[in-house]
Amino acid sequence: MSDHQTNSADWSGLTPILRPEGPRARALYAALRGLIEGGTLQAGAKLPPTRDLAARFAVSRGAAVAAYEQLLAEGFAQARVGAGTFVAAHVPRLGPEPAPPALPDMPRYDLPGAIGTGFDDDRTRRQLRACLNRHLLPPGGAHLRYGDPRGSAGLRAEVASYLRSARGVRCTADQIILTGGSQQALDLILRAVLCPGDAVWFEDPGYPSARLALEGAGMRLVPVPVDEQGLDVAAGIAAAPQARAAYVTPSHQYPMGVVMTMARRLALIAWARAAGAWIIEDDYDSEFRFAGAPLTALQGLDDGGRVIYIGTFAKALFPGLRLGYLVLPPDLLGPVVQVRARIDRSPPVLAEAALAEFLRDGHFAAHLRRNRRRAEAARDAMVQALVELGLPVSPPQQGLHLIVPLPPGTDDRSLIVPLAEHGLAARPLSSLSLGPDARAGLVMGFSGFSPEAIRAAIACAAPVLTSPRTAA
Ligand SMILES: Cc1ncc(COP(=O)(O)O)c(C=O)c1O
Repeated sequence: MSDHQTNSADWSGLTPILRPEGPRARALYAALRGLIEGGTLQAGAKLPPTRDLAARFAVSRGAAVAAYEQLLAEGFAQARVGAGTFVAAHVPRLGPEPAPPALPDMPRYDLPGAIGTGFDDDRTRRQLRACLNRHLLPPGGAHLRYGDPRGSAGLRAEVASYLRSARGVRCTADQIILTGGSQQALDLILRAVLCPGDAVWFEDPGYPSARLALEGAGMRLVPVPVDEQGLDVAAGIAAAPQARAAYVTPSHQYPMGVVMTMARRLALIAWARAAGAWIIEDDYDSEFRFAGAPLTALQGLDDGGRVIYIGTFAKALFPGLRLGYLVLPPDLLGPVVQVRARIDRSPPVLAEAALAEFLRDGHFAAHLRRNRRRAEAARDAMVQALVELGLPVSPPQQGLHLIVPLPPGTDDRSLIVPLAEHGLAARPLSSLSLGPDARAGLVMGFSGFSPEAIRAAIACAAPVLTSPRTAA
């Protein structure tokens, strides 16, 4: 290709794509590379001398030299001694930018009614910051090294002692693996303990994120109905007696809110023993019990080693922390630790260290006491505002969400967007069902927002909540 051809290349197009911010050399490099990849500058074309380029684009000579050096280093250009710099003979030719991939819709966490938003507690924030600082300042520094795939010994010891006293879990620190929340805990079990194609009992209606994890791992979900006593164990046995596992939320069924009775718990454990199946107990929000004694975990009733216990700090503290835990029967520890080390090595060491201290110093217990009161006030505000609109809501005695039942046949999914447009988040109950008999209703959370914000959002959304579609 001649110099004449090269110099006739359309350099004018280059000017607008020189981004005004950032280092000039980087911008010039990116613009030239774009012209080469897009075919405006053909293979073999001579690039202008750095002095000309610098003058044309009002950059320093050094910036032009640096841009060429990077193009040369990456193989987009070639230098010929005494002749100058040329577009390389073979450069990757890229097509148009691919369209951004379609991502699943994120639920709204920024509106009252959202499920899973944590309370912003000033004292907790200050104490956590102090705990973090202590580990960041010299001579701290465990986070400069890789962590233990089971999680730090310090936090495992704190979690074990908390679970023994608050939840009646039978465990030692050695049985605990700290995870990136319940979701990773479940994923680890699916990878290390179960196999694709395994039948797994699943509460119907049930927790959608667990369903996604199970289906994504190729499990065969067996919907098992939930009634006022919790999971219907007899129905599960009738549907799939040889299932490999049952995923359950016995302390506070998600989403219906029922507590599994003792008779059902014992029946479930008896089935698991006889079938050699695993019970995956997701104990996600037991810290928020508003009346009566806290219920112990199902795991504490089992001396046969069939229960895999999952817990999380997402509700008790806040979900962005991404810390949870597994309590495993001893035989499962080895396989699960191996998978954990393979997929993400260990929990974040700095966050673990700060949290261990937060628990050890009694801040966690005090935080729970404060937030239980907050949650109760938020619950009362939500229930009262909904009842005043004539909706048949009863206050849950536990947890951080409630259900607004809607008349059978109501299209609850069609209400979600109009409610959000009025500033209120909700999840359609029918979307959480697996079988054909989906119940209609709205699942609404009351954590993370003040009673005033909740009342205001419900007042604003009242026209949608009381529209003929939702009225009983
Ligand atoms: C049933 C259930 N399990 C677990 C969680 C928490 O999950 P994670 O710890 O992954 O944030 C939630 C949160 O809403 C939940 O509803």
